[in-house]
Amino acid sequence: MSTKKQPAWLEDAVFYEIYPQSFNDTNADGIGDIPGITEKLDYIRELGCTAIWINPCFDSPFGDAGYDVSDYYKVAPRYGTNEDLRRLFEEAHRRGMHILLDLVPGHTSVEHPWFRESLRAEKNAYTDRYIWTDSIWEEPAGYGSLRGISDRDGSCVVNFFSHQPALNYGFYKPERPWQQSMDSEGALATREEMKNVMRFWLSMGCDGFRVDMAGSLVKNDDNAKGTILLWQDIRRFLDEEFPDAAMVAEWGEPDKSLQGGFHMDFLLHFGPSHYNDLFRCENPYFAGNGDASEFVAKYIESYEKSERKGLICIPSGNHDMDRLARAVHGDKRKIAFAFLLSMPGAPFIYYGDEIGMRYVEGLTSVEGGYSRTGSRSPMQWDKSVNAGFSTAPKTMLYTKQDESADRPDAASQMSDENSLRSEIKRLIAVRKTHRALQSRGEIEFVYVGKSAYPLSYVRTCDNEKILVILNPSDSEAAFPCDLSLGECIYRFGGRISANAGMVTIPANSACYVEIK
Ligand code: GLC
Ligand code: CA
Repeated sequence: MSTKKQPAWLEDAVFYEIYPQSFNDTNADGIGDIPGITEKLDYIRELGCTAIWINPCFDSPFGDAGYDVSDYYKVAPRYGTNEDLRRLFEEAHRRGMHILLDLVPGHTSVEHPWFRESLRAEKNAYTDRYIWTDSIWEEPAGYGSLRGISDRDGSCVVNFFSHQPALNYGFYKPERPWQQSMDSEGALATREEMKNVMRFWLSMGCDGFRVDMAGSLVKNDDNAKGTILLWQDIRRFLDEEFPDAAMVAEWGEPDKSLQGGFHMDFLLHFGPSHYNDLFRCENPYFAGNGDASEFVAKYIESYEKSERKGLICIPSGNHDMDRLARAVHGDKRKIAFAFLLSMPGAPFIYYGDEIGMRYVEGLTSVEGGYSRTGSRSPMQWDKSVNAGFSTAPKTMLYTKQDESADRPDAASQMSDENSLRSEIKRLIAVRKTHRALQSRGEIEFVYVGKSAYPLSYVRTCDNEKILVILNPSDSEAAFPCDLSLGECIYRFGGRISANAGMVTIPANSACYVEIK
């Protein structure tokens, strides 16, 4: 299964994640929209990003920001029309860019017509579309449930919030009479319908999917054996009908997701990854006084398990976690990006992280965001009204914006050589011209000490070998290294020096050096 082919464009893709609500509003209703994304394609391309992941943009009551879909086949009217999305695909392709939509196969909104039908006492085509116990008095052990809202006698399993009923893909090992097998009629019908959803958007020009909670589909499936089988079946369908479709899993276990036929997986901010040690904990490594050793140990573990293929994407942030800029400040952000843009897998830049947009403190939850809301504020484009996001009255904006006088904006940073955005643009350009730095180049860690700086690793592809050295701390740092250093292809901060088997790098500096 791991021999599957990967769309060529994915090899050196650099992604930009767009939370559509907050990106660019073109009709002054205070909410970003699809034409707003199309309008900014050149901005994204100019930064060097070649691909985009858009959070769910389908019809929804927005109880979880669109992760509660009520019609998989229709763009939410507040974002525009299906035709607008088709035009976005076309305009992206004209620029050599690619677009992943967010597929949410695990659950729907309670307002989805399928769910309304499945609530009914009379048996119908959607009775088995979701997972129901066969008596209201039985709660599904190990899962949350929705209860007491139907004429149907039963409790319905939920997948995330309690308004997100779980679609039925069956149980790997059914244990109760109401638990259907993976190949039961109802479970197979759900799976086929999800293929139809994929077919619909792929035929329209979408290039693939980021798949929400991809590991959650089959229940009672501790080692994900059933879920892997299910995705392998979907892979076969894609190989036949859409061989170029790219699939990126929100799963966090690349050994499993890659077996399931996904091309790439994400490093997640929950679970065992230690990703948070880098940017989001009390003392993040990239804030200058932390520890990256447990992260590296875990990283190597999943890297080895996924056949050293380097397909674990490390995001700068996303719509579910604190903004990178919350704990990592000033030039240290540039060093964080020197890391993100020199690691295997496709880098994902969360909109606004390229200008160091701040986490907006103290916001009331919007659309089920809760603490995530502060990372979902409208993009700051320039110094005009509402930072150029929208011409609607301020009170109509999706969430409050960062109101500080010195809030960063894209226009100012584009005209400043020393800005974070300009640095990221340089870093992406270096990555583009060096295969060793891209997704498939191998990685070998050279130096990672317990609570120590710098962090250093070698990236290799064919004859190209590049040593990366990162020191986001406030002190000069040295490590033993007897590699024969060649030309420096990227540098931020001070110069490194090599002497008697030791390499020294000044405080707050980063560099990529060729190895002879
Ligand atoms: C994923 C999404 C998150 C959403 C959840 C439920 O983790 O990234 O935003 O709330 O799934 O769909
Ligand atoms: Ca709008």
